[in-house]
Amino acid sequence: MAFKHFSSLVLLTLASQAVRGAVMKRATCADGRTTANAACCVLFPILDDIQEALFDGAECGEEVHESLRLTFHDAIGFSPTKGGGGADGSIVTFDEIETAFHANGGIDDIVDAQKPFIARHNISAGDFIQFAGAVGVSNCPGAPRLNFLLGRPPATAASPNGLIPEPFDTVTDILARMGDAGFSPEEVVALLASHSVAAADHVDETIPGTPFDSTPGEFDSQFFIETQLRGTAFPGVGGNQGEVESPLAGEIRIQSDHDLARDSRTACEWQSFVNNQAKLQSAFKAAMDKLATLGQDRSKLIDCSDVIPVPKPLQSKAHFPAGLTMNNIEQACASTPFPALTADPGPVTTVPPVPPS
Ligand code: HEM
Repeated sequence: MAFKHFSSLVLLTLASQAVRGAVMKRATCADGRTTANAACCVLFPILDDIQEALFDGAECGEEVHESLRLTFHDAIGFSPTKGGGGADGSIVTFDEIETAFHANGGIDDIVDAQKPFIARHNISAGDFIQFAGAVGVSNCPGAPRLNFLLGRPPATAASPNGLIPEPFDTVTDILARMGDAGFSPEEVVALLASHSVAAADHVDETIPGTPFDSTPGEFDSQFFIETQLRGTAFPGVGGNQGEVESPLAGEIRIQSDHDLARDSRTACEWQSFVNNQAKLQSAFKAAMDKLATLGQDRSKLIDCSDVIPVPKPLQSKAHFPAGLTMNNIEQACASTPFPALTADPGPVTTVPPVPPS
């Protein structure tokens, strides 16, 4: 008995020493903040600078949306057969070439906004793009805390044209392109949770800042709900390439989201995110981790994920926008019924644009 107590005591002491050891290994940076690896200390001044001067005081606004889009447009320039360095910053380093690609319409705004930050900090363009994306997303309530790995070397060449999906591409073409870059259809759907914090400036040039869902400042499943509602009208002039009718005034729907929500290869995965914040977060985090390191040698990168702020939890519940019900859902998943949701009270929802900053 006494021996048993003694051995538990030894084990306890050893365990607490191990915990202390692990805690003590954390590096304390110049400003007193700690991180698992001293090499990550360089990121704290960059974090403060972008939260203040790029994201207007840690908002989930236009620059966050654009920075998230940029993570994709840099990274997806990667193909085992056609070339491209993936998440290497080539969209900034070779911006004169890449921002001219049709699929990169409007991306020059955020490239120009990010360039001075890259210039005044000691960080590669590839690292900065993914860091700004991860920090930016953390400003959106409901988002997962994305991983961030540091150490991408400078890009050596521009990506070839034609690797970025367009809103008028077919589901077959989108899944093939994304598959070529290493993503399953399920991961493609998970990545599109990004369109929950998104707006379009250039699909219909007459209505810049038109959101993809009614809550562009929150990382929630409203995007997956609202893309499943029957489209009834265009928010602007209509007739634009890659645009289809949306269910709400002030909301835009791109053809690829509409089709992916209804295609038998992706519809059930799409629906699975409705009112499932835990899955939305974990699947998006995993897919973004893969996206952020496309074309990179992960063994050479340092895990600085603990520098990324912890996002606030979501306050609102999944719902039908006011004035709409289950009768407006175009059920596409054959095997599982659409989740039961309540509608917001009040007059029919009109979605305001995301303000420019
Ligand atoms: C299937 C592939 C995809 C297509 C066809 C697509 C297409 C588009 C289009 C047409 C826009 C509007 C751009 C504008 O007019 O300003 C947009 C915006 C956006 N996309 Fe995607 N996208 C895709 C996948 C992704 C992925 C994987 C991400 C991120 C991981 C992403 C993040 C965003 C964000 C955050 C915006 C909003 C930008 C803003 O508000 O300024 N997209 N996307």
